[in-house]
Amino acid sequence: MPVKSLIKEGDCLDVLQSQPADSIDLIITSPPYADSRKNTYGGVHPNCYVEWFLPRADQFLRVLKPTGSFVLNIKERVVNGERHTYVLELILALRKQGWLWTEEYIWHKRNSYPGKWPNRFRDSWERCLHFTKEKKFKMNQDAVMIPMGNWVGSRLKSLGKNDVVRFDSKVGSGFGKNIANWVRRSMAYPTNVLHLATECGNRKHSAAFPSALPEWFIRLFTDLNDWVLDPFSGSGTSLKAAKDLGRNAMGIELCPEYCELAQEVLNDVQLALMQPEGSYVTAP
Ligand SMILES: C[S@@+](CC[C@H](N)C(=O)[O-])C[C@H]1O[C@@H](n2cnc3c(N)ncnc32)[C@H](O)[C@@H]1O
Repeated sequence: MPVKSLIKEGDCLDVLQSQPADSIDLIITSPPYADSRKNTYGGVHPNCYVEWFLPRADQFLRVLKPTGSFVLNIKERVVNGERHTYVLELILALRKQGWLWTEEYIWHKRNSYPGKWPNRFRDSWERCLHFTKEKKFKMNQDAVMIPMGNWVGSRLKSLGKNDVVRFDSKVGSGFGKNIANWVRRSMAYPTNVLHLATECGNRKHSAAFPSALPEWFIRLFTDLNDWVLDPFSGSGTSLKAAKDLGRNAMGIELCPEYCELAQEVLNDVQLALMQPEGSYVTAP
């Protein structure tokens, strides 16, 4: 069945009012960070961030199916020499709003920009907060399994005393319960850390995330023909990933130029421009 990819221009708070309740399987998004892109698409003051975000999150809660997931890529900025607490405050406020803070994934930016600061090192990670409506939600863990490498045979052949203790323990899940549960035909379940390089340099949006980021969560939390929503869709990275994976997608974006850009991305025009020299298939 051909999938649909829709881009709607406007504030997601307004646009989502007409979206039916319980209609979306995955919301994956990277919202405008507090104050960080004032010169491009405006910012929200860190002290007002939670207040600004909550009415939008209320709509996300309404349109998400009970089996759905909401993945929020965000990172607190430094204000007056220390990390601001608005992300932490947002997590607490979202829980009060009715969300379950199910997990926190870390996006490790393998190629973070080099630099030197007097009181910290270069920032190399961002949060991908995972919220759900229910404790039981759709999660296709097998869809994101990774190759184990050669060590698996020898490592599992000779289990040490501690391994056996862990194997026998009944606590939690994964390794502690039964090694056989997380290793299958040389494939293993991944960790909650995603090691992905940024791709901003070759995009027309200053805050685009790498397509591998939404791809991973789309594989994990949706099935074919499910609906993916990115309410701050920017250059349309999530929409393109959803389309390529056979999922329906809706993007909402405030800036008309980014809506146009996302349409180009969906039509593969931008992708063509990113090919190595000599292999363009579409003229600029
Ligand atoms: C961090 S960027 C998203 C980038 C996107 N993930 C990508 O890969 O291109 C956030 C986007 O949200 C848009 N935006 C800001 N406020 C918005 C709102 N109220 N409703 C919809 N979009 C909004 C901005 O114009 C910006 O393009």
